Amino acid sequence: MFNLILFGPPGSGKGTQSERLIARYGLKHLSTGDILRSEIANQTPLGLAAKSIMDKGQLVPDEVVIEMINSALENNPQAKGFLFDGFPRTTAQAEALDKLLNQKGTQIAVVLALQVGKEELVSRLLNRGKTSGRSDDTNESVIRSRIEEYEKKTAVVAEYYSKFNKVVNIKGEGTIDEIFDSLTAEIDSRKG
Ligand code: AP5
Ligand code: MG
Repeated sequence: MFNLILFGPPGSGKGTQSERLIARYGLKHLSTGDILRSEIANQTPLGLAAKSIMDKGQLVPDEVVIEMINSALENNPQAKGFLFDGFPRTTAQAEALDKLLNQKGTQIAVVLALQVGKEELVSRLLNRGKTSGRSDDTNESVIRSRIEEYEKKTAVVAEYYSKFNKVVNIKGEGTIDEIFDSLTAEIDSRKG
């Protein structure tokens, strides 16, 4: 199995690059944001509870997203590997993920961390908000709250994986093709 985390702040290109990476490597894409939005679209109790938190740009509780990932791992026993996008977002989530993967006799191979300046993030998300239908993209103050949540609670996740020498910083500005090439070079150098 080859499991990787695509890490980075809101708007850094995790979703954009994930689509291409799963096509190239045949990994299963696990985006907690996408799963939560589908729960909202289906008006499940979980979705209804998460919506008001997401609309404020805050993180939903750890136990909710950890359980979502637990089920996704259980439901994909045949996967060649997983690409985690938007998860883990707190140290508690990272520790829980390590445990779950450990139980399956596998681990995270690498954390690829996209580096993008704050004003570029805001402008990308405001721009996407014109068409995405994502309620957390339409308002600049919510976008800035999401970035603040990232700085306060999520940036430390990179420090957690650094202790295990798993983090590689990737320049996340430039063309989508250039960034994809940097990501695949790192993956190819680790994948047998
Ligand atoms: P989530 O869905 O994960 O959103 P996010 O992390 O805020 O990030 P985005 O999806 O907005 O950005 P992205 O990095 O995927 O960038 P993208 O490729 O789209 O989370 C949403 C919410 O769900 C959270 O706020 C939280 O409430 C909750 N949540 C989710 N996971 C959670 C967890 N684990 N724990 C707790 N709560 C959780 O690109 C952005 C835009 O830029 C696009 O328009 C794209 O076309 C454009 N773009 C991409 N690359 C480039 C480039 N190179 N140059 C120019 N533009 C580009
Ligand atoms: Mg995304």
